[in-house]
Amino acid sequence: MPHKVTLIPGDGIGSEITAAVVRIIEASGVEIEWESFIAGAEALTRFGDPLPEPVLDSIRRNKVALKGPLTTPVGSGFASVNVRLRKTLDLYANLRPVRNLPGLVTPFGDLDLIVVRENTEDLYSGLEHVVIPGVVESIKIITEKASTRIARFAFEYARREGRKKVTAIHKANIMKLSDGLFLDCFRKVAAEYPEIEADDKIVDNTCMQLVMKPQQFDILLLENLYGDIVSDLAAGLVGGLGICPGANIGELGSVFEAVHGSAPDIAGKNIANPTALLQSGVMMLQHLGERQAADLIARATIHTLSEKKIRTRDLGGTAHTTEYTEAIVASMKELSA
Ligand code: NAI
Repeated sequence: MPHKVTLIPGDGIGSEITAAVVRIIEASGVEIEWESFIAGAEALTRFGDPLPEPVLDSIRRNKVALKGPLTTPVGSGFASVNVRLRKTLDLYANLRPVRNLPGLVTPFGDLDLIVVRENTEDLYSGLEHVVIPGVVESIKIITEKASTRIARFAFEYARREGRKKVTAIHKANIMKLSDGLFLDCFRKVAAEYPEIEADDKIVDNTCMQLVMKPQQFDILLLENLYGDIVSDLAAGLVGGLGICPGANIGELGSVFEAVHGSAPDIAGKNIANPTALLQSGVMMLQHLGERQAADLIARATIHTLSEKKIRTRDLGGTAHTTEYTEAIVASMKELSA
């Protein structure tokens, strides 16, 4: 029986990188029936909604989706489809592994961090209004329920994956009530996992520590906004947004997507790096129990980058998206021969 997976190619570089990832996953021999949907600005024009109900229904049915990036207009226009998708399906945990890929030279060598970002509340609740002209209020929502749930997710992940430490990142010195609550919940949950070290750090210091001595961290647990910012920073430590994958996980399903956005500056040029989405696809295959295919794709990616030295421009190479994709498919054949 093929797996049924919802596919949202996305916009900007989305169609180029999802085509690459679908090509590689199909070449691995895994049978997947893709249900492909348009979302974002094009869906708004065609269907009057940037996140049409059939997309959500498909994910609810299949419980698994692979998603390309979706552009969010700045300042005005429709609210983020990415945030709406996560909130509507209650995909409360955003899991973002930050690892070096063998063969890529970066300042710190062998980093292996996990960013766990709360995905449903904080300043991303979209509660903003004009109090009087010239004065705007944005409301930050932090709840005991969501903070406890994401802390438990981080510690359960640590226990399952044999990780040593979870660090809660906050600004509870200034936001004593909201970040204070997040930190309290973290500490209560941490007490249930005595074998895992738990500590906390203020977010600004964390940013400095990350660029100076990132090896001190293992799992970082953050609210939504800090998690968004710090995961891009962390991506920069291992080679950039072109390689960092992610998963949005909830009780109702999981949506796998790269950390990066739609990269309009390089869209349509066949130069985008599909590795981040491909690594998200590898996480998806592991989630589907297709460990052999996941392993083959992961090994072929490393082989292409480190042995063949075929790389896209963001990693200092000259390969086009399609050329790099075919090199990975060829590596898969070589490795499984
Ligand atoms: P971005 O992540 O799209 O791009 C930042 C920089 O990284 C750009 O220079 C871009 O060319 C480069 N980059 C990103 N992905 C790359 C890849 N795969 N290969 C090579 N280079 C890559 O961030 P930006 O420009 O701030 O956002 C663009 C749009 O994407 C915005 O509308 C934003 O709201 C949206 N966005 C969507 C996300 C999602 O769908 N989950 C996540 C982040 C942003």
